[in-house]
Amino acid sequence: MQPLLVCLQDDDGLAAAVDTAIGARRVQLERRQFPDGETYIRFDTELRDRDVILFWTLDNPDRKALPLLFTAMAARDLGAASVGLVCPYLAYMRQDERFRSGEAITSIHFAKLLSNHLDWLVTVDPHLHRHDSLSKIFDIPAIAVHAAPLIAEWIQHSVEWPLLIGPDEESLQWVAAVAKAAQAPFTVLRKTRHGDRKVDVSFPEVDRWRGYTPILVDDIISTGQTMIKTIQHLVEDGMQHPICIGVHGIFSDEAFHDIMKAGANKVVTTNTICHQSNAIDLSQLLSAAVKDVLSKS
Ligand code: R5P
Repeated sequence: MQPLLVCLQDDDGLAAAVDTAIGARRVQLERRQFPDGETYIRFDTELRDRDVILFWTLDNPDRKALPLLFTAMAARDLGAASVGLVCPYLAYMRQDERFRSGEAITSIHFAKLLSNHLDWLVTVDPHLHRHDSLSKIFDIPAIAVHAAPLIAEWIQHSVEWPLLIGPDEESLQWVAAVAKAAQAPFTVLRKTRHGDRKVDVSFPEVDRWRGYTPILVDDIISTGQTMIKTIQHLVEDGMQHPICIGVHGIFSDEAFHDIMKAGANKVVTTNTICHQSNAIDLSQLLSAAVKDVLSKS
């Protein structure tokens, strides 16, 4: 039977491309806030025995998590055969260790919370660092698709003589995969984080790459400080103004403008989070993964 897709986000572009590609029927959800701030949810479609796909990218997760869980719980309660989530950006993956005594390891807690109310999840390049796979923290099938081949394709079409730069060891997995697919050289820097908005990044040794276009590649751009510090070093060193590529462009506060002001030539992201920098479309990648997970459920 045709799966039902519920898009919970305002920006409908990616969800619409996915539902067309997988042949899902779009279902409307009535959702609003009561005057006291509580959430009201109502499906206006019969869900009994249907596979239900929820679509919501999880930037701003604290605002979205409770309505998402209520929606998933309501769908199960109304008899859905399965309830899956497509979240192109999966939040809470960076707190993957107790760095200071007493801290919550929220990557694990968030994964448990989602696992308890969903049958499967599909996402794009989650920040896997100290957990080496989603299956270590999720109790449900949790599928990660990778944007590297599409990022590499964008680079091959858009940049001559690219030099890929990863700002820290955590970015190695993304930079190495993109560099391999784009057949470009790469280097990885060292980052020291002193606070949410304060980072130091080592100076790139780029003497042998003069004449190349530096391309900074990272999974997440949040405050933009990681990109900004690296851009400053490159510009000071007389390199060309770099292109910054992020899989997930969160851009807290003025991050996008701050990165441009620091000297970026261009900022490019995939469309996991809707933003003016989106230039790499992941709809086919996500659709293939959702089709595959549905065929197995
Ligand atoms: C963390 O290690 C990630 O890979 C990114 O480097 C980080 O999230 C970037 O954060 P910000 O833009 O705040 O420097």
